[in-house]
Order: sequence, then structure tokens, then C-alpha cells
Amino acid sequence: MKTLTSFVIIIFLQSLLVHIFCLHQTSSNGILEYSSSTFPSDFLFGTASSAYQYEGAFSTDGKSLNNWDVFTHENPGKILDENNGDIAVDQYHRFREDIQLMTFLGVNSYRFSISWSRVLPRGKLGGINYSGIKYYNILINSLISRGIKPFVTLNHMDYPQELENRFQSWLNPEMQNEFGYLADICFKHFGNRVKYWTTLNEPNQQVILAYITGRFPPSRCSSPYGNCSRGNSEIEPFIAAHNMILAHAKAVNIYKTKYQREQKGSIGIVVQTSWFEPISDSIADKDAAERAQSFYSNWILDPVIYGKYPKEMVNILGTALPQFSSNQVKSLNNSKVDFIGINHYTSYFIQDCLTSSCNAGYGAFKAEGFALKLDRKGNVSIGELTDVDWQHIDPEGFHKMLNYLTDRFWRLAKT
Ligand SMILES: *[C@@H]1O[C@H](CO)[C@@H](O)[C@H](O)[C@H]1NC(C)=O
Ligand SMILES: *[C@@H]1O[C@H](CO)[C@@H](O)[C@H](O)[C@H]1NC(C)=O
Ligand SMILES: *[C@@H]1O[C@H](CO)[C@@H](O)[C@H](O)[C@H]1NC(C)=O
Ligand SMILES: *[C@@H]1O[C@H](CO)[C@@H](O)[C@H](O)[C@H]1NC(C)=O
Repeated sequence: MKTLTSFVIIIFLQSLLVHIFCLHQTSSNGILEYSSSTFPSDFLFGTASSAYQYEGAFSTDGKSLNNWDVFTHENPGKILDENNGDIAVDQYHRFREDIQLMTFLGVNSYRFSISWSRVLPRGKLGGINYSGIKYYNILINSLISRGIKPFVTLNHMDYPQELENRFQSWLNPEMQNEFGYLADICFKHFGNRVKYWTTLNEPNQQVILAYITGRFPPSRCSSPYGNCSRGNSEIEPFIAAHNMILAHAKAVNIYKTKYQREQKGSIGIVVQTSWFEPISDSIADKDAAERAQSFYSNWILDPVIYGKYPKEMVNILGTALPQFSSNQVKSLNNSKVDFIGINHYTSYFIQDCLTSSCNAGYGAFKAEGFALKLDRKGNVSIGELTDVDWQHIDPEGFHKMLNYLTDRFWRLAKT
């Protein structure tokens, strides 16, 4: 259907999503040592961050409250240590020191995200806040002057709380227009210097945590997936993801039609991936591992690349899965990504729960594809455990994941 002329998988190996406040580990990890004979000279080594996890300055210079500010203030126990991002690592004020640390590390790129509520405190309604534009302009210029390429994520899970209060944010198609507006403003103000854009960071993980388990704002879910006061874990995540996919397409379309020819940058999306290893050689467990992929990264990437949801999702979810109208298929088809980004953390063993019964557990339910995720098979761990209680070291799984993505999205797209 589509041909990808240039296709690069950009990999972000990071370990920051859940232990949100273990920040700035890079400074103590030592200097990057890599040989130029091993990597091409234009290979980008980088550090990565997100606005809410790094900037702090939560109500400085006209920034409005976002979903994370409200979530952490209303219910401090939601974050370990009752922490929040009010100050975080104060990158808003200390970015010059941070850039010095990056220079010390020897990296040549820095991935960061735009704080939506800093640039558009009320979304489309209230106008641009030029204090926010100025902050990112200075940050971008400072990076470039030190030889560090800015790699900008338009949105990393934060949005003005007003959009939640007014129309339920990602549950409403209106969010597509809001996101397109944000994207346009960012391309217009920063695109003469930013040559790498990603639209959304980990929409798959965001909707799972926000609308299936309810652990991220807006804390919507239903039993048995989580304990929330409202929501529906078997309906809402699929609506939210649908709006995110179409919002992504809108932003890419804006870039391709209004800016790319002149600005000559590239644009893509970043999903979270895990490798899912069948727990046995049975057909049922192998099918379950494929379902696990479809209910995770393929959920987003199949529509982005092929304009349709994976068949495993269609089969299990039926009418709970929104459909793309013919105009939406056209919009997806007209918004080809220049690259696919992945954030890869860990692997799981997968056990089938469709043809045999499983006890409750992560992955076992309908909205998760009836594919139970386990970190051990008997007494064998999927990989050595890190300091994070769900992240296991499995280099072979990472290798398999790259081959899986290449087969599904590169070789197939070319035929
Ligand atoms: C932008 O922020 C400034 C404070 O720096 C504030 O005075 C102004 O009202 C804000 N403008 C908008 C449109 O939010
Ligand atoms: C669910 O949340 C409510 C309110 O926060 C709390 O009272 C209740 O104990 C929780 N139930 C479970 C099973 O965790
Ligand atoms: C996708 O776009 C290509 C042109 O780039 C066109 O040939 C093809 O028919 C389109 N497919 C769909 C499903 O719209
Ligand atoms: C794992 O279990 C097998 C058999 O159940 C046993 O032979 C082996 O010693 C166990 N290994 C460890 C590290 O406990």
C-alpha cells in the first residue's frame, strides 16, 4: 500500500517512564565512549527527557496547570514518595548547566518535549504565550551552539488541564484539532532549526496507563483493570488511541504540506515496545505473543503505516474498536512518517488466555488481548532484573524486536 522511501528505526533506550523522578542519571554514568569505526559519523547519540519530568517551573511565566500538575497535586500518593514535577530538575532555569553535562558526556543530540501548557496555556482558545516560545528558542539555540542537535517531541503525555475540563481531552475528536494547532505553531516557530520531530511519545503506553489501569491522569478505568471512580477500560482506551492516531496524522500532514519542503526536516512517531516471547512452543502461546504485539505497538503503528488496525484487535474487540472512515484512511495515507521511533525497555513471556483460562494478571483481560505477561517461566527469569522492578535485561529480545519491526513495517511496506 505505502512505500517508505527512507525508513529508519530510531531507538530510544531509556528507563525513565515509571520512575519519573529518578532524573539526570546521565551525569553520573560517565562519558560516552564509542569508536567512530563502529558507528557512522552521522550516528546520533543522545539523552532524552520530557517536559513534565524535567522542566519544573510549573506555574512560571504564564504556564497554565496541566493534567500532571492537577493529578499530582490532588492526590499526592499517586507518585512514589508523594513527589511531583513542580520543580523536577528545574531544567527551565538550569538548562545551561544541563547542556554542559551533555557536552561533557559527548552526546550529539538531545530529545526533549514541548510543554503544551507553556506555549498554549488554554489550547486554541487563549492564544500563544510568547514566554514559552522564547524559552524553547533559547534552549534550541543553546543546544545548536554546542553542536547538539535538538530532537523535539511535540507532546509527551501532558496537556493543559482546561482541555480535560472542557471536553475530556483525548476522548474527544476535538483534541485532534488542538494538537494540530500546537504542531503548526511549533513548526512555524522552531522548524527553521529543528530537523527532527516526533508527534506523540508512546501513545500506546499513555492510553494503557490513563484509560485501562487508570494510573496516569485522567485516572479513568473500570474493574477489574483498576480502581477508578469513572471510566471504561474496555471502551475508552480505544477511543483515546484513535484520536491520538488521527492527531498524529494531522500534525504530519501540516508538516508535509506547509513546512517540510522549506525546512527540510523529518517527522515520525515514537511508540513503546516490549519483546513478547511465547512461554511455550504451542500454537496458542505463539498466537498470544502475536496478539500481545498487536495490542501494544502494532495498535498504533499499523494505522500509521497501513491505515488500519491489526486484525487481532478487530477480532477480539469488535465494535469497541473505532473504525477509520474513508477520509481518515486517506489522511493516514497522506501522512507518511519519515521514521519510526521506539522506546524499548524489557521483555515478557506470554501465555495464552483465550483458549485456556488464566488467573488475573497483567495482560490476561480482553482490553489487553488475553495475553498474560509474565517475567518468569517456572524459575527462569526473562532476563536479569534491573533496579526497576519490571525492567529485565534481555538483549536477545531487543534484537528480535528490531527484526520484528523490520519485517512488519519495512519489508512489507516495500512490497
Ligand atoms: C503569557 O505569560 C505572561 C507571563 O510571562 C502573562 O502575563 C501573559 O498573560 C501570558 N499570555 C497568555 C496569552 O497566556
Ligand atoms: C479503591 O479506591 C477507593 C477510593 O480511593 C478506596 O477507598 C478503595 O479501598 C479502593 N479499592 C481497592 C480494591 O483498592
Ligand atoms: C495512498 O496514496 C497513494 C499515493 O501516494 C495512492 O496511490 C493510494 O491509492 C492511496 N491509498 C489509499 C488507501 O488511499
Ligand atoms: C529450576 O527448577 C529446576 C526444575 O524444576 C531445577 O532443576 C533447578 O535447579 C532450578 N533452578 C534454580 C536456579 O532454582
